[in-house]
Amino acid sequence: MTTKYQAIKGVKDILPAEIEKWQFMEKTAREVFELYGFSEIRIPIFERTEVFTRSIGETTDIVEKEMYTFSDRSGDSLTLRPEGTASVVRAYVEHNLYNPSSVAKLYYMGPMFRCERPQAGRYRQFYQIGAEVFGTENPEIDADVIGMLMRYFERLGLKELELQINSLGCDECRPKFREALIEFLKGKRSLLCEDCQKRFERNPLRIFDCKSTNCHEATKGSPTIENYRCEGCKSHFDSTLSYLDRLNIQYAKNPKLVRGLDYYTKTAFEIVSKGLGSQNAIAGGGRYDKLVEEFGGPPTPAFGFAIGMDRTAQLIQPSALSLHASAPHVFIAALGERADLKAFELINVLRQNGIRGERDYEGSSLKSQLRKANKFGVKYTLIIGDKELDKGKAILRDMSSAQQDEADMERIVEIMTKKLRER
Ligand code: HAM
Repeated sequence: MTTKYQAIKGVKDILPAEIEKWQFMEKTAREVFELYGFSEIRIPIFERTEVFTRSIGETTDIVEKEMYTFSDRSGDSLTLRPEGTASVVRAYVEHNLYNPSSVAKLYYMGPMFRCERPQAGRYRQFYQIGAEVFGTENPEIDADVIGMLMRYFERLGLKELELQINSLGCDECRPKFREALIEFLKGKRSLLCEDCQKRFERNPLRIFDCKSTNCHEATKGSPTIENYRCEGCKSHFDSTLSYLDRLNIQYAKNPKLVRGLDYYTKTAFEIVSKGLGSQNAIAGGGRYDKLVEEFGGPPTPAFGFAIGMDRTAQLIQPSALSLHASAPHVFIAALGERADLKAFELINVLRQNGIRGERDYEGSSLKSQLRKANKFGVKYTLIIGDKELDKGKAILRDMSSAQQDEADMERIVEIMTKKLRER
């Protein structure tokens, strides 16, 4: 008996019909990020578990519930990367990419793994494009990198996005806020959901991020970080916002914005889309000035973000794709055995000359071949039958106007190259 296997829950195939969007996201990221001086880094898919637990934080949902952790054959605890920042920091320190006279700008893309409850926009294997800058505390970088991200989304044709921004303070001011929050929530503890009961002492800021209405109610009127930021954090945040203003980037201050990872200091932000359901964050990031040091490197402030590609792909409109960029240029419709042989040769000559060709392999009728050509999204179809072969010609059909002209078979590469250039 044969078994029909299916991909596991929360994991999906990206099929040829959708791949254009993915390639568009990747290509545009390379173009835009390289314009801002970023270079690509390729980080491993798995790391020692501590790389993630130490950076993301022992009491985060990711570390407590969502990591794919396993022992390898030597008994080491390894984890499939739930995000990229920790690995980039590990690599930065390991390879001594530190350079006191310049900043390092790195980007990466690829799959991440979190064992979350699958739902629309939330997968167990999902894809991110991330970027990290090391070596400056200057708020100009915060604004510049957020600006780069917004330009990127603009290039993808995304609309109705909102940048939500906060400053989570630093080691000096955040503990005071934390205490005030615990004090405020003390009397309301019984209202909190089971998870937030646990978060109450270990990671109370995370309660702001809970989706339960009771927890949401419990935090109403609570103190926010705004009144607790130290002078340094306040002035850093104000400068970041003023640089954003200079770039004409709109933002909404959200003092209750906390992130699902514990390494952030000062700036934290998310980009949310109005066009998505409950999983509406398409990118998130912020500053993490202590992490390099915690990983054994020299004190190195850092800032970065990651884009969720699965969610972003959902928002890309077909019109934004560089129109049928990977669609073949020409379809060859052959009628009859002789024409079929000619089409076999011709398509290869066209390909050798940089023209993408497709054809029908089923000996279908002209009507159905033209239907196929339309499905491929080609601009032109070359029709060849016995009559045309005898004359050394092909019929060149413009698929949008349905206009047909005869084209000299001998000169077909030259004719097609010229036509395609005219588009
Ligand atoms: P994050 O907010 O955990 O940040 O993830 C960034 C984005 O990845 C999210 O906004 C979302 O679009 C996407 N994402 C996260 N989990 C899933 C999932 N289960 N399914 C589909 N998409 C998902 C980070 O990962 C940080 N490393 C960002 C960063 C870089 N901070 C500083 N540098």
